[in-house]
Amino acid sequence: MKSGRKPYEKLEEYRYFLKDSIRQEINFTQTAQSRRLPAPPLQKPCPENAVRIDLPEGPDSLRKLCVMPVGDAIAHRESVRFYTEEAITLKELSALLWATQGVRQVLSEECALRTVPSAGARHSFETYIAAQNVEGLPPGLYRYLPFDNQLVRLSVDDRIGIKAAYACMGQRFVAGAAATFFWTTIPARMEWRYDLAAHKVIALDAGHVCQNLYLACTALGAGTCAIAAYDQTECDRLLGVDGEEEFTVYIAPVGKV
Ligand SMILES: Cc1cc2nc3c(=O)[nH]c(=O)nc-3n(C[C@H](O)[C@H](O)[C@H](O)COP(=O)(O)O)c2cc1C
Repeated sequence: MKSGRKPYEKLEEYRYFLKDSIRQEINFTQTAQSRRLPAPPLQKPCPENAVRIDLPEGPDSLRKLCVMPVGDAIAHRESVRFYTEEAITLKELSALLWATQGVRQVLSEECALRTVPSAGARHSFETYIAAQNVEGLPPGLYRYLPFDNQLVRLSVDDRIGIKAAYACMGQRFVAGAAATFFWTTIPARMEWRYDLAAHKVIALDAGHVCQNLYLACTALGAGTCAIAAYDQTECDRLLGVDGEEEFTVYIAPVGKV
């Protein structure tokens, strides 16, 4: 690069993140898993008195609601930023939650398989839903409990759509979504096994989750758009997460088309 040494060094540092060179530097006999430390819980616990909402069966909903084969969903996938005012139903929301983070099989207290792949099956994400126009749900913030097939209500808030758009750096179309998916990571879940090699694979994992949302939306007559341009502090504040042990990594508004 002609513009001097410093910017290039910075680029080198950031490009390093995309490589797997870090793996050679890690002493895998010293990871938290190798030291037999307990793995972080597979699902973030929620307050005892919290309101929980049972979801319709995810796999069943997805199967019944999908109007096209996977080949057509792949062919028609696109980013959608205009949504109708039609609400999404709880069945549709449940289908989308299951498609993105649903549990297929619990292997042990420390390991479960889901509808998306994840490095070492560590699944470091939590899913928050800013629900603005979901049938049967008061507008507000919810979190998916994939192991219980439930939502936990975190707040009731008529202004959740506006707040979500603000946290997405004012990307206005977010305010028109029926529901916005916010994915956080709890990096300790991945670091437990992979230590410093955890972070790149967390980013790779996030892509699979959002792609499944795109395909499931396409197949059931809804639309979504990945969002990676967001205000970190505002999103973490909106979700009520600490920004260190858990923080926002990816966002996707959803609405009917
Ligand atoms: C990682 C990632 C981040 C993105 N961030 C944004 C965003 O912040 N705002 C937005 O409007 N679109 C965003 N997009 C959508 C892209 O602009 C879109 O995928 C691209 O224009 C190609 O269009 P298509 O998805 O319809 O094929 C993002 C897509 C990806 C994969």
